[in-house]
Amino acid sequence: MRSFILGIIVTIVVAFVAIYSMNCAVCHGTLDYKPSMLQHSMYPPPPQIILEALDDPEWHLYYAIRTGVRYTGMPAWNKALSEQDIWKVTAFLSRLEKLPPAVQEKWKKVYGTSPESHQGKEHEQHGAHEHHD
Ligand code: HEC
Repeated sequence: MRSFILGIIVTIVVAFVAIYSMNCAVCHGTLDYKPSMLQHSMYPPPPQIILEALDDPEWHLYYAIRTGVRYTGMPAWNKALSEQDIWKVTAFLSRLEKLPPAVQEKWKKVYGTSPESHQGKEHEQHGAHEHHD
């Protein structure tokens, strides 16, 4: 049972990494915790959502990803990604700080760092995460 659940988790992680790296990292920062090079190239700036985990409710993230954010650089992904893929990215992003140890380890192995290593540090960074609600 444990390895079955772990298998599911790994599948989601692999999917997330692929979807995120290809579509989101260019604006929202890479999985090795580097801010996006376009961070200051649009207004409002794209929040660096790996560096500073989002604390919005899951439905909010899902909605923002699906429909985009009007008058900003945030595209609507509902015509580019499948419903399942949007959910995978949403689920992962909203649990960035609560990922199971196995996932943290894998992340660390691949990227040399992981969300766990960054916990508590986010407030030291001068982030570009602004809310416009
Ligand atoms: C071309 C740049 C760009 C790309 C590519 C992009 N985004 Fe965004 N995103 C933005 C900007 C700019 C904002 C800020 C909008 C605002 O100020 O409300 C944003 C906002 C968001 C938010 C809302 C954050 C919040 O606090 O409400 C989420 C979630 C998000 N993006 C996820 C994604 C995901 C997932 C992808 C990839 C599938 C992605 N973005 C791709 C530019 C981008």
